[in-house]
Amino acid sequence: MHKKGFPKGFLWGGATAANQYEGAYLSGGREAATSDAVTAGSFDHPRMITYKTDDNAVGQTERMGKLPDGAAGLIDPESYYPSHAATDFYHHYQEDIRLFAEMGFKSFRLSVSWSRICPKGTKEINEEGLEFYNSVFDELLKYGIEPVVTINHFDMPMYLADEYDGWSSRDTIDNFMFFAETILRRYKDKVKYWMTFNEINFMKSWVYTGVRNNDLQHQYQASHHMFLESALTVSLAHQINPEFKVGMMVSYVPSYPNTCRPEDVMAAIIDNREKEFFIDVQVNGAYPSYKLKEFEREGVNILKEDGDDEILKNGTVDYIGFSYYMSTVSAANKDDLEKTGGNQRTFAKNPYLNASEWGWMLDPMGLRISLCQLYERYHLPLFIVENGLGAVDSIEEDGQIHDDYRIDYFREHIQAARDAVVLDGVDLMGYLPWGCIDLVSAGTGEMKKRYGFIYVDMNDNGKGSLKRIRKDSFYWYKKVIESTEGA
Ligand code: BG6
Repeated sequence: MHKKGFPKGFLWGGATAANQYEGAYLSGGREAATSDAVTAGSFDHPRMITYKTDDNAVGQTERMGKLPDGAAGLIDPESYYPSHAATDFYHHYQEDIRLFAEMGFKSFRLSVSWSRICPKGTKEINEEGLEFYNSVFDELLKYGIEPVVTINHFDMPMYLADEYDGWSSRDTIDNFMFFAETILRRYKDKVKYWMTFNEINFMKSWVYTGVRNNDLQHQYQASHHMFLESALTVSLAHQINPEFKVGMMVSYVPSYPNTCRPEDVMAAIIDNREKEFFIDVQVNGAYPSYKLKEFEREGVNILKEDGDDEILKNGTVDYIGFSYYMSTVSAANKDDLEKTGGNQRTFAKNPYLNASEWGWMLDPMGLRISLCQLYERYHLPLFIVENGLGAVDSIEEDGQIHDDYRIDYFREHIQAARDAVVLDGVDLMGYLPWGCIDLVSAGTGEMKKRYGFIYVDMNDNGKGSLKRIRKDSFYWYKKVIESTEGA
């Protein structure tokens, strides 16, 4: 153990995702994905899905035009779709990786765009897409940066969503397996760390799952297919290369009881199951009893085939990856709680904490609490694969970005992670701050909400030179990595 508390080989770095960073959405043989049909939004004006799925589609609009050739579906020609260009990693990857190397990154998390490898999501390969990621991995390895790959982060080929209703169809497993196997085999000597689905507990979104009808039955059936997929991927990955580490990924927002009234404590236990359910299945390889009881009460009937239980049992994950941004509060009586903004939905306000400009509760101690809860419950290595502060940055007269607020945020969260390692004995693999370079917000589609150590000149209307500028936090994070590096 190094004097600063983090273990030797600790994976310092940063995290991104194709749908928010890569751009070039119809270049190089890629076809459209669900995430390409979501307009930009803002703090008080939600993003819109303009793709017409069916009459039940959430957020659909009547104003629609046609996507360019090669893309399936319909878009509104008057709306702006930030994923189409994003912050253009596709054309800037060499420059960006050079900057990550300058900060001293040991690892870098990115996702592979499914429709770049398999344009329709079916068993047809786009060799140019495979070559793109091959070049990215080579570039990372040139600087000794370990790629950490999310196989699927918040998107699905439009064709699959259309023809198969996304994850509600069992056929999607077969199609995804083809995609997963293709990349696991192609990059087997370049990538060691994999994650199946980003934030698998956000299952209500058509963009993430391609499922039109999001009643409980459809949602959980889709989750069942994703669990099978995850387990099959883990098993196959270990056959391809026993050295592979394959993890799962959840959004972890710990919920505290509003008071010490036992009813509030029970409410917090129930709310925490919202994410624990997804971890329980992927770590223990079986559905937990509380969920089976809930299915009985709610009339949810998961359609299983022979052998499903064995697949889940045999494909449990090697580590738990999670995002941590905030905590929340639970109460037996919801009227006792005040609402505030949060990751993908509204949460309850905690009067003891401050909030970000988007209303997310800032809680560094909550990170230590999360690490302890997860480690003590699951006894698996943990990986913080997202953490960060979404804030408005401005370029000052000196041409620089003085983001002290971000430095303060990271200082406190890294200290909390260190305490979990040093004082609580948590086995922590690494720390990958979200949006280490500015990218499009998933929740609001804004550029204004920035997370990066590196500023990208791009605004909410898609205007900007895409120039990269190091923020003050860039130099600060570089020093953190230098000073905590294993001896
Ligand atoms: C996580 C996602 O939910 O939070 C990311 O995995 C997302 O894709 C991040 O960008 C931050 O959320 P937002 O809405 O501020 O972009």
